Amino acid sequence: MSNYKNLVTAQDNGILTVTINRPEKMNALNSITLAELKTCIEDAYDAAAIKGIIVTGAGNKAFVAGADISEFTELNELNGRKFSERGQEIYSLIENCPKPVIAVVNGYALGGGCELSMACHIRIGTGNAFFGQPEVSLGILPAYGGTQRLTHLVGKGKALELMMTGEMLGADDALSLRLINHLVTTKEEGLEKAKEILLRVFKNAPLSIGMVINCVNATYSKDEDGYQFEANSFANCCKTEDFKEGTTAFLEKRAPEFKGA
Ligand code: COA
Repeated sequence: MSNYKNLVTAQDNGILTVTINRPEKMNALNSITLAELKTCIEDAYDAAAIKGIIVTGAGNKAFVAGADISEFTELNELNGRKFSERGQEIYSLIENCPKPVIAVVNGYALGGGCELSMACHIRIGTGNAFFGQPEVSLGILPAYGGTQRLTHLVGKGKALELMMTGEMLGADDALSLRLINHLVTTKEEGLEKAKEILLRVFKNAPLSIGMVINCVNATYSKDEDGYQFEANSFANCCKTEDFKEGTTAFLEKRAPEFKGA
């Protein structure tokens, strides 16, 4: 396992748990941490032993309290665009990961932290979780994909209200707005819940899972016809060994043994 400065990683049962580890700075994402996150996710794409990922924050105060504001002093029009595009690229890498990615949010998920959770496929929040996009209070706006993903997840009206007021949502409201899939009591319970969901996902054909992720993401792409994308993906499933195995196992009344091929 790689050594990171600001990430702690652990691997168990096919699950890579990635903990953003700057608790003294509320796990704020500075450029080093973002670069490490990129490397970590890229490695996970290719690692056969990793079947799913959990992303969480160290300590009990924050998931991630946003991009590191102390690095904002150098931002101008030119590098500001690059700053946004780099964050967008890394979060798209997470969103398009062919393996399921679950965020376990305990404490503050603000700005780039809320955006990070939204780039994950599933979100679990504790009763102590707070979500918000406070960028307008700094004279900027959510720029790691937040204006798009928040709108997709909670709808235009609520997204605009949250991003224009910059106010935080508690976990109950996040659940009722479907910003989180599950509400749990503690971070430990959240991690257990995430593992339990992943182990249920792992029973299914890995290539199908990756294609489901791609098809759902195609819904939000202006370049893709989602229905066409779905039909193409289905055709691709039909040529896999796992399709033969899945249907044969059903007819033989046994559990399938998928190989990811
Ligand atoms: N970037 C850089 N540092 C941050 C940070 C961020 N996004 N969020 C918190 N920190 C740092 C604080 O500066 C402080 O550092 P210090 O001890 O060296 O002074 C430390 O983390 C603890 O934060 P503090 O503000 O003292 O804790 P709190 O419990 O009073 O408040 C928050 C917690 C999360 C509400 C508050 O820190 C906050 O509003 N953070 C910024 C959130 C934000 O605007 N994010 C969007 C960025 S685009």
